[in-house]
Amino acid sequence: MGKVTPLKLAVLVSGGGSNLQAIIDACKASDYPAEIVLVFSNQLDAGGLDRGRTAGIRTEAISHKGYAGGREAYDTAVSALIEETGADLVVLAGYLRLVSTSFVQRWQGRLINIHPSLLPSFKGLHVHQAALDAGVKFTGCTVHYVVPEVDSGPIIAQAVVPVLPGDDAGTLAQRILKQEHRIYPQVIRWIAEGRVSTNDAGI
Ligand code: GRF
Repeated sequence: MGKVTPLKLAVLVSGGGSNLQAIIDACKASDYPAEIVLVFSNQLDAGGLDRGRTAGIRTEAISHKGYAGGREAYDTAVSALIEETGADLVVLAGYLRLVSTSFVQRWQGRLINIHPSLLPSFKGLHVHQAALDAGVKFTGCTVHYVVPEVDSGPIIAQAVVPVLPGDDAGTLAQRILKQEHRIYPQVIRWIAEGRVSTNDAGI
């Protein structure tokens, strides 16, 4: 049996890129059905870019600061770059920049995000502190398709994490990140294997 053509991934990061690293590591397995063709960042000094370079992946960065034409023009440039690589799936991995509606529409059904809460609870930023402030006993992380509304869209997978006595935002974030690193590569595998239906998901 011939090897299945791997799903091509464009991974978009703004920070340290530990989720990117989990995906890079997953891709090393010979039976993993995906490969990263682009690591992109809106932050020129993002640690994720170094991770991409170290792994021998094409990395690109365009600063959004002062970009002529604003968000739409910026996202058009990012889309062009992604298209150039032939990516099948756009993976937001700590991409701390709102994407425009036209970007979402361009990649609809082929654009996923990970968020460190059990959506629809705790959308937006500072979610670990928000979970602590709310006194929830369990929180977690969510992988979902991206729609124009932030941190919404059909949920593909979630992992549940306990909130423990004495937790602060940092300890809770670390516990959740461990699960993020587990479920994000898993979801990408499922998508590559055709086990996630965007029709069923309503988009
Ligand atoms: C993760 O918690 C992710 O869920 C959130 O931003 C963080 C990124 O971490 N959107 P990293 O850059 O992957 O280490």
